[in-house]
Amino acid sequence: MRGGQASGWSSREAYAAWDAWRRLPPRGKIAVAWEGLCGLLVRVAREEVGGPLLAVALAPFALVYMAGSVLRDSLVYRDGGVRARAADGCGGYHRHRYGGTQRLVNWRERRVVASLLRRVGRAERVLDVPSGYGRLVPVLAALGTRPPVCADLSLPRLFALGRDGDAAHEPILLQADLRGTLPFASGAFDLVVNVRYLHHAHTPEDRRRALDELTRVSRRWLVVSYYRRSNVHALQRTLQHVARRNRRRGPAMIGHRECATLLHRSGWQVRCERAVIPWIHAHRVVLLERVSP
Ligand SMILES: C[S@@+](CC[C@H](N)C(=O)[O-])C[C@H]1O[C@@H](n2cnc3c(N)ncnc32)[C@H](O)[C@@H]1O
Repeated sequence: MRGGQASGWSSREAYAAWDAWRRLPPRGKIAVAWEGLCGLLVRVAREEVGGPLLAVALAPFALVYMAGSVLRDSLVYRDGGVRARAADGCGGYHRHRYGGTQRLVNWRERRVVASLLRRVGRAERVLDVPSGYGRLVPVLAALGTRPPVCADLSLPRLFALGRDGDAAHEPILLQADLRGTLPFASGAFDLVVNVRYLHHAHTPEDRRRALDELTRVSRRWLVVSYYRRSNVHALQRTLQHVARRNRRRGPAMIGHRECATLLHRSGWQVRCERAVIPWIHAHRVVLLERVSP
């Protein structure tokens, strides 16, 4: 088995800027955010077509965003945020990863996945990849009598899932890398679930390769999620970037044309597609069914 470091987005460097921001006292946060947002508005006013008007229109959003993120990060994440709180295993992760504004996103994601799975009905052989800490295990285990298989690149996450996960469902754990060939025969599963992975794959080629592999190992159903290119979400990421001096790479968002080629693959049909938070959040979940071999 290879070491459990996931792809680059979770590297130590990627969190350094976030940690530096988090440690600032509220007054320091306001100063950093003010400087970043003023710089952004000046750039927009100078460089964009209709720039001055656009900057005036953006200013209220920027101010609300600044106030909201300073408040949230001073109150909700003051004790170290996701990373530090997740260190006590997936029990802690489940309690805290989806605190703050992410609580709503987590709740909606689980509801949307569960509603798509109602269309699947029963499924005995189920693969969740990447499983992370097994957030979806309870809903997947309810689909059949066999325990689901949870696969992930990260050994620490799999260990935490085995140690702290819901004992009633006892998934089978396995390390697997979606950038290569999954260690399963073609059509080994009735249902394959891939949630919150594609927006971390930053090239169309990586996304296509992962989806090819997922469709290979699924005999009939595939649930896959992705970020659809969205202006509201993109604006939020830009504001976050300038307000926190955050250098983390944002999620990969997929445009309409790529969606058409990526999801409408031969032999498969899109049965249902749902937005996690329509118009606001870019995350979407799709149910595909194999219609011919
Ligand atoms: C955002 S989490 C999503 C986990 C789970 N699907 C969920 O919705 O809670 C992304 C997961 O992808 C895993 N991962 C990253 N690169 C991977 C790869 N190349 N192959 C398999 N898993 C990978 C990470 O270890 C992490 O657990």
